[in-house]
Amino acid sequence: MKHTDVKELFSDAAKYVGHSVTVCGWVRTWRDSKSIAFIEINDGTSLKNLQIVIEKDKIPESEIKSALVVGCALQAEGLFVASERNGFEMSLRSVKVLGGCPQDYPLQKKHHTLEFLRTIPHLRPRTKYFEAVFAVRSALAFAIHKYFTAHGYKYVNTPIITGSDCEGAGEMFRVTTQPWNAACKTEQEYFDGDFFGAKAGLTVSGQLEGEVAAMGLGKIYTFGPTFRAEHSNTTRHAAEFWQIEPEVCFCDLHDIIEIGEDFIKSIIKDVLSSCPEELAYFDERIEKGLIEKLNAVISSDFAKVTYTEAVEILKKSGKDFKFPVEWGADLQTEHEKYLTEEYFKKPVFVTDYPADIKSFYMKLNPDGKTVAATDLLVPGIGEIIGCSEREADYEKLKAAMVKRNMPLENYTEYLDTRKYGSVPHSGFGLGFERMLMYVTGVQNIRDALLYPRTVGSL
Ligand code: 4AD
Ligand code: MG
Repeated sequence: MKHTDVKELFSDAAKYVGHSVTVCGWVRTWRDSKSIAFIEINDGTSLKNLQIVIEKDKIPESEIKSALVVGCALQAEGLFVASERNGFEMSLRSVKVLGGCPQDYPLQKKHHTLEFLRTIPHLRPRTKYFEAVFAVRSALAFAIHKYFTAHGYKYVNTPIITGSDCEGAGEMFRVTTQPWNAACKTEQEYFDGDFFGAKAGLTVSGQLEGEVAAMGLGKIYTFGPTFRAEHSNTTRHAAEFWQIEPEVCFCDLHDIIEIGEDFIKSIIKDVLSSCPEELAYFDERIEKGLIEKLNAVISSDFAKVTYTEAVEILKKSGKDFKFPVEWGADLQTEHEKYLTEEYFKKPVFVTDYPADIKSFYMKLNPDGKTVAATDLLVPGIGEIIGCSEREADYEKLKAAMVKRNMPLENYTEYLDTRKYGSVPHSGFGLGFERMLMYVTGVQNIRDALLYPRTVGSL
């Protein structure tokens, strides 16, 4: 269908002024008066609507009537002109309704609550808010690919169906083609008859396969969906979310922290320059001071603190936390909030967590109690990155797995990477939706995904 994107019209206006143009889009709003009518049309390419001016004596009445309908899809042709109030607008010459829209269209008003919009995920991309969210989501993904490509990383795709639970937290969704079989006497008998002849699930992380790839390709990153059957019903947890997982050989914890900080700053910088209109909108509507916050993040150093120091800071805070602060216990949301929002007031890498609360693959520190791991916590969200140097020593890695009662037979290939030419290596996982929330100010992960999957809601 020959037409011009609204974004193109606005960004290269001088080329189009005084010429006939055709645009296609959906009617957001309209106004009618005696001799003149106005339509605001949006085609999804720009946050801006194009105003279409209808001089009523020039267009057949029936055509006007069928076009003055919120939600209907139009193809409109007319003169593109400069206008004092709108910058540019179209003076209509002819209009064709591509898809009518009855009165029960739920997006009649200009403003709807996010809660209401969550009930109509199939229509909410037609609102300015979600147009902006998905524009930034797309730009952020591009920025991430650009960063790693520019730094010599290979993009690899790790399997989505897997037999290994990388995080060992038992949060895997099962993948099966088999109905319940009461005749099976053991779990093994049941899985033997299944599609893979083994227990299979959806990956919680591409890390283990990412490590395998890095052990030949040197530096890799994954960017794909990961799944967790977590029952945490929070604004930051989704059952299906996207993760970016770089894995870097010949790299210790110190090096990977440097990479992580540079990466986060670079992608923020990229989005600040590629999405000025969207970020200005979020700054005005969602998080006052958003752009200033992002500029501060890219121009100052992230804080670094050990877990042990963080526990001391929390103990000395004088705060009445709901969860007690104890060396050895995981940091809770309230603790992360205090550290990032009140104490450091900026992103902070918390390092060297107790081994017992972290995953099996993390490198044991010489103290024998903590691991060379770090979480990057940011104000307003909490953890956005989970990171560590990997245990490169075969025996130590095996011991950590045995300690956690992991079925070693499922991990022989992974252990082989430590047997054949093991190297110091590190990596991290960035939660894509959490990063998107951080750069846009979106408060709920359900508004960062096209179709959010959360516990109890498909
Ligand atoms: O800290 P996590 O569990 O780390 C890993 O999975 C490692 N294997 C990553 C690696 O080293 N390659 O998860 C990484 C990040 C978290 O920091 C968080 O941002 C995000 O993934 N995340 C979630 N995002 C949305 N919903 C959930 N349920 C999430 N769980 C983790
Ligand atoms: Mg984590």
